Amino acid sequence: MKVTVVTRSGREVVKGGIQLKDSALVSDLQEEIHSREVVVLTCNVARLDFLSLIWLVFYFPVKKYYPSRQRLTLPLPPGYRGKPTVLSPKKGIKEYTEGNADNLTVVFKDLGPQVYYSTLFFWEYLGPLIIYPIFYYYPVYKYFGYEEEGVIHPVQTYAMYYFCFHYFKRIMETFFVHRFSHATSPLSNVFRNCAYYWAFGAYIAYYVNHPLYAPVGDLQMKIGLGFGLICQLSNFHCHLILRNLRSPDGNGGYQIPRGFLFNIVTCANYTTEIYQWLGFNIATQTVAGYVFLVVATFIMTNWAFAKHRRLKKLFDGKDGRPKYPRRWVILPPFI
Ligand SMILES: NC(=O)c1ccc[n+]([C@@H]2O[C@H](COP(=O)([O-])OP(=O)(O)OC[C@H]3O[C@@H](n4cnc5c(N)ncnc54)[C@H](OP(=O)(O)O)[C@@H]3O)[C@@H](O)[C@H]2O)c1
Repeated sequence: MKVTVVTRSGREVVKGGIQLKDSALVSDLQEEIHSREVVVLTCNVARLDFLSLIWLVFYFPVKKYYPSRQRLTLPLPPGYRGKPTVLSPKKGIKEYTEGNADNLTVVFKDLGPQVYYSTLFFWEYLGPLIIYPIFYYYPVYKYFGYEEEGVIHPVQTYAMYYFCFHYFKRIMETFFVHRFSHATSPLSNVFRNCAYYWAFGAYIAYYVNHPLYAPVGDLQMKIGLGFGLICQLSNFHCHLILRNLRSPDGNGGYQIPRGFLFNIVTCANYTTEIYQWLGFNIATQTVAGYVFLVVATFIMTNWAFAKHRRLKKLFDGKDGRPKYPRRWVILPPFI
């Protein structure tokens, strides 16, 4: 069959179209687009050595539209304002043709440079993991006008271990637990997400380790950190449950998570994430920590609604599909 690949403005991406076997997958089409794209000269800058001020500029030919950078959709009928159908790389091209047609036109969009999800998560979590101990171990407050070094309260030490354990756990989960459905994410997300996590990491660390920090009572610290730790372990358990919904190569789509807190709430991993930050804040009591808690809760609540809607749509109880059970979305007994 012949596939014509056009941009949204109608320009042909591969002149003359692409001839593929009827059994070809969308991923085969993406490989073909990549191999047949016009080679462009890309600028690469290299410095001769660390001390040198001499910079070399290389131009070398590259093919930039590797498959994960491509988004292929079906053309929208004239006047239609809805979202186009996105072609799944794992599906056969024939599934997107009408009847037994031998021709298909697809619309190509460049998603821009991509990074692996694991790379994105690694960099966003590494920032707080490094930044927080800097405020604890080093005399940084003299740069903020505080000459006297304050005494270190036990809660500040425990909070530092708690905070670092949290981000270390998230890096480990990224590499050894999560089974992502999408391999890559736009490079621009690295900068956005790093700004979010690194800035909040520094903001919280600044106030919790401040020389004028006033600690809460011993009992409150123990309750807060103890509760938070239980929630961190529960969060890990939730991630193991989500992991087991997919095969090791990430296949399996979206399933109904069952067991543990998932029997009550759709996004139990977010619920436990929110509660573990609450535990941290009960123990440390800073405005910065609570601001982060509110922002993170807001973000996760939005995502949780979208995930809840998706599962209800996928499991609608029609045509033999199971019906999604009645559950809270993220924060029982409210939402
Ligand atoms: N503090 C904060 O601001 C903040 C914000 C967000 C997340 N977090 C933390 O980071 C963790 C990971 O975040 P996330 O947004 O990546 O979590 P997530 O999307 O809920 O799930 C984690 C993994 O499980 C998969 N998954 C989720 N639901 C599934 C289902 N029904 N069937 C099959 N697989 C499913 C996801 O696949 P996909 O690849 O398809 O999504 C992903 O690989 C969270 O649980 C939370 O602890 C913290």
